[in-house]
This record gives sequence, C-alpha cells and structure tokens, in this order.
Amino acid sequence: MTFLRNVWYVIGWADELMPGQMLARRICDEPLVFYRDDTGAPHALFDRCPHRFAPLSMGKLCDGGTAIQCGYHGLRFGADGKCIHNPHGDGRIPAAAAVKTYPVVERWSLLWVWMGDPAQADPARIPAFPFLDTADWYVGKAQMEIDANYVLESDNILDLSHIEFLHPGTLGGGQSGEGKTTVTVEGQTVWSRRVIRGEILPPFLYQATGLPDQALCDRWLDVRWDAPASMYLQADIALAGTPREQGIQTPQVHLFTPASAGKTCYFYALAMPKALGAWAEDAAHQNVMGLREPFLREDKPMVEAQHRALAGRSFWDMKPVLLDIDAPAVRARRVLDQMLAAEQASANEPAITDGQQPQDRHDLL
Ligand code: FES
Ligand SMILES: [Fe+2]
Repeated sequence: MTFLRNVWYVIGWADELMPGQMLARRICDEPLVFYRDDTGAPHALFDRCPHRFAPLSMGKLCDGGTAIQCGYHGLRFGADGKCIHNPHGDGRIPAAAAVKTYPVVERWSLLWVWMGDPAQADPARIPAFPFLDTADWYVGKAQMEIDANYVLESDNILDLSHIEFLHPGTLGGGQSGEGKTTVTVEGQTVWSRRVIRGEILPPFLYQATGLPDQALCDRWLDVRWDAPASMYLQADIALAGTPREQGIQTPQVHLFTPASAGKTCYFYALAMPKALGAWAEDAAHQNVMGLREPFLREDKPMVEAQHRALAGRSFWDMKPVLLDIDAPAVRARRVLDQMLAAEQASANEPAITDGQQPQDRHDLL
C-alpha cells in the first residue's frame, strides 16, 4: 500500500513520550524511534542502525539524553541522525553512518510526525483541536490497536448511521438510523453532519450527559475529516426541541495512524470545559472509558472483519454498493486519493529511502 507522505501523522499522546525514555512506533510501514532531548524537544529517527540493523530503540539514551547509543555495538547517533561516536578501532566515523530523521511537532497534547519532504513540514497544516488544550479543558484520552486498514476507520467515523445497528445498547438510540446526513467539502477538508430528532437515548448517554432518563432528545454529530485520518467529532445532545447551544456539548477526536496496511493505531479523546467545575474531570475520564466498550467490542471487530473480507483487494475494485450515508466517506476517500496521486505525480517527490546506507569499509570486503 502507498501512504501519503506529505502530511502530519499522529505518533501518540504527548505524555507517552517521557524525558529519558524512547518510544518505538511503526508508521507507514517504517520503524521510527522517538525521544526528547535535554530541553524536552521531541525527535524522530529511523529505528534501524546502519551498521548491523539493530533497532536503535533497543539501545539507550546517552550524552545527557541528547543522543542514542545503539544497543549492539555502541555507535551513537545525534538528533540530526548522524553518527557522533564510534567506540571501535581508531574511532573514525564512516561517512555513511547516519539514519534518516523526521520533523516532529508537539501540538494539541499530541505528537505529530511528518513522513515526507522535510522542507514542506509546516505545523500550520496540523488540524486544530483546541479542546485538547489542558489549560482550559479536562481531557479523557485513550488508544487502541486495530488490525485493519486505517481508511476503513475514517469510513466508520464519517458514517455514524451505524450507531443504531452496531451500538444498540451503548451509543445508538432506537431512532438513530432515521437521522439525516449532509456532506460539505472545504478545500481538502470534509464535513459530515448528522442530526437525529426526538430520540430516546441508550442509558449510557443519559448517564454521561445528566439528562433525565427516557427524555426525548435531539442529537447532532458533526465530523470534520482531514488527511490522512484526523477527525474532530462534535457530539451534542439537547432535550428535544431545545436549541443545540443549551444542550450538552462534547468535542471529541478520532485519530488514526497506519502502522502498516493492515494495522492501525487509534487515538481518541473527549473534552469537558474546566469551567464546568472539578466534577467534570472525573466525568471526562469516565465517559471516555464508557466509549471504550463499544469501540473495543463493537467497532473494532466489525472493521477488522471488513478488512479481512477485503483480503488485500482495493476498496473500489470490490465495487461497493453505495448508499446516501456513504457520501462523506466517499468524499474523504476521493480527497485522499487525489492527494496521493498528486504526490506521486510530483516531479519533486523526494526519494523515500528505507534508511539503509551503503557500506563504508569496502576494504573489509
Ligand atoms: S548494529 Fe548498531 S552499532 Fe552495530
Ligand atoms: Fe461505532
């Protein structure tokens, strides 16, 4: 599978990468190792030593946390990917002893990596998720691994008509399927908006929102998609017939990073304003745990089963039957495909190496 290169991928939650530790993660089928230097700035290196291909993540941080020492024979690599120390022989550093580096940015409580041309790595292209700013919001966050292609996960979030059928006891009410979906495209951003009127909610949602049991409610589910699979979901619920602004408003993120064509890292979160009071901190964490059950027991098995059914074939080659609920996901797939095609057609596309370097000591051969 070909992955989009010139785009920001989520590495993980910022607090997953602690000072003094390394984090190994596979992204777009490339092994990467992440660490923070002595100032806390995050760095990303290709996770394979150019000597005998040991993962650098099996080594240790050294030089005050500013470099990585390979765990096999001790070559040291700085944040620019260059070897800075060779403990063997005369200590000469082979010119080819270097690994690829990747731009990394910490934003919205997340770490993001740019897999393409470093000259194009503009942090302004990271979609905005201001509600993940913990200065003003309590954020309940979580993650899981999915054995499926990441685009199927975008499809899943962009079509929330499935909640009536896949999540009948947790997220879907009896009338969820009667909601109406609209789609809009703004540049390379796709919006899916769904409104459900006069619905009796499942018990979890009365508990999560504090609305009275069995009350008829209106629901708004607005999803903003940006490539590769970064989604903001504004999920609001109000008593039926009352304005949306008077309801319970819950911003969420659903972010998917391909580890490979068949494995995806899923990062999700919901936020509650600190202005609501201290109780909202517990509520944010409990509600995100409440979401975990349907995500783990219902979405994950379904999406993984879809992936197995595709068996490596292209989604479009399978000629899927399309319904009106598919409009947002189809638009997002089109944008993604166009971005991929443009990238591949670009004459300036940088050569993507797998980090391998030529051997230096030819005299040893
Ligand atoms: S494999 Fe890294 S120093 Fe030998
Ligand atoms: Fe779902």
